Amino acid sequence: MPSFLLVRFSFSKTIGQNHGMNGTEYQTAVRNEPLSRRSFLGVLLGFGSVVVGSALAIPLIRVALHPLLSKTTETGWSDVGKADEFASITGPIKKLITVEQRDGWRKIVSEKAVYVLPAKDGAMRVLSPICPHLGCSIPWVEAKQQFVCPCHNAIFGVNGARVGGPAPRAMDDLECKIDNGMLKVRYQYFRQLIPTKEVLA
Ligand code: FES
Repeated sequence: MPSFLLVRFSFSKTIGQNHGMNGTEYQTAVRNEPLSRRSFLGVLLGFGSVVVGSALAIPLIRVALHPLLSKTTETGWSDVGKADEFASITGPIKKLITVEQRDGWRKIVSEKAVYVLPAKDGAMRVLSPICPHLGCSIPWVEAKQQFVCPCHNAIFGVNGARVGGPAPRAMDDLECKIDNGMLKVRYQYFRQLIPTKEVLA
């Protein structure tokens, strides 16, 4: 007799002895056990496995999918500089800010330029340098005291108002605030080629 059958037989024999039967009698008893009882135990075991498996898997799936389900392009507040630094400026000042965005599981950190305008009635303004015509970066031209887009010559005044050229609207204001003496800005992108400001991301 092969060794695995010997092991099985001796195991059955031991169990059978515990039930007052020899090995052969025990195996016959098991085979003759009512099918409904074994089926019921099988179903119960399967159901329990599904319940426990689901309870463990759902939180893991939610954690894994969270970055994909959350808003991927949301931007927070970026520091521009200490508010005192801009208290006495007389014209637009270009500043570089660090912008953090999340795209799925990736955190994207980039550097963007913004223009801080002289405060008016105590209110600070920060402009996006992106041209609302086709998206070129608009420099402040000190000699002309104007913003002049190098791509198609759109011109904007010192406060960002449209003066001339193909741009359909003024330069876009960015949301800003002073928090603990720090000027902060929320960097956003806006739709081009339309006369009203519309946030893209
Ligand atoms: S992109 Fe600025 S004028 Fe066209």
